[in-house]
Amino acid sequence: MSASADRPFRSVLYMPATNTRALAKAATLASDAVIVDLEDAVAPDEKAAARKNLKGWFETRAAKPAATIIRINAPSTEWGADDLVLARSLEPDGILLPKVDTPRDILEAGDALDDEAVPETVKLWAMIETPKAMLNLGAIAELGRDPGSRLAGLVAGTNDLAKDTGVLMTPDRRYLLPWLMQIVLAARAGGLVALDGVMNEFRDLDAFGRECAEGAAMGFDGKTLIHPAQIEPANKAFSPSQTDVAEARAIVDAFARPENAGKGVISLDGRMVERLHLAQAERLLGRATWA
Ligand code: COA
Ligand code: MG
Repeated sequence: MSASADRPFRSVLYMPATNTRALAKAATLASDAVIVDLEDAVAPDEKAAARKNLKGWFETRAAKPAATIIRINAPSTEWGADDLVLARSLEPDGILLPKVDTPRDILEAGDALDDEAVPETVKLWAMIETPKAMLNLGAIAELGRDPGSRLAGLVAGTNDLAKDTGVLMTPDRRYLLPWLMQIVLAARAGGLVALDGVMNEFRDLDAFGRECAEGAAMGFDGKTLIHPAQIEPANKAFSPSQTDVAEARAIVDAFARPENAGKGVISLDGRMVERLHLAQAERLLGRATWA
């Protein structure tokens, strides 16, 4: 879990901005965030209608999702500039930039928000989905150390990565795993939230549960989703288990004992436990309160 995350991002559901039924339901869903998409889930001749829907939803909605992120089209496209102007005027919790290649892409979006004095609460998120982004990952993530950049998280874009590299997508994701692990590593270096990519086979919830467990084991904070049926399994997989909580509590309790005060390392049930494990345990207990 990134040190910077003060709220959960276990389940982050994409919905096309053209899907008014989905938007109407967004606030009632148990996902930690929704990403309203103006990009790849919206066909070219629907871009204007999608923007109109999005604006209407923001202006009339009675209740909000836990967090709302808007995915705009890349600035290099004919829709990017209009999307950004609209998105910043709506002041969502986040704006997700697709096809990011370099830190400059994020800095320029940040400047466009600063120019209009958009509140600091509007964060930027970066899709990591191009070969260039993979190669520039360290420099991109480093922006997370500068609050002025607004960068809050990295989102793995596995479909585009596969498309642009030719890598084969297999059920066990074996060829994608090295890149996914790099994304987690970069996010930690930059103090950013890391979100795993989507699983396209949305009807296979058994396989989805396995992929969530894998993402959690890899250190992701949560997963991006495409269907509401994926919300509960993701929330479960990215929340600490009862066993994790019990172990963390035991570590906290052990260090709280008077005989362990001031000790850097102790023995607990046949295992070496250091103060770094105490910090880790405290963080896990914090996350458990989100569940
Ligand atoms: N967010 C919110 N609600 C959604 C949803 C989503 N992503 N996907 C489906 N639903 C809703 C449907 O609107 C439907 O509700 P309704 O009965 O009130 O109309 C209900 O869930 C059941 O939908 P279902 O029939 O199971 O799915 P579908 O076949 O209509 O749609 C997809 C399947 C994949 C096309 C659709 O889930 C989708 O568009 N997902 C998001 C795609 C996306 O945004 N991609 C971009 C990033 S990869
Ligand atoms: Mg993409």
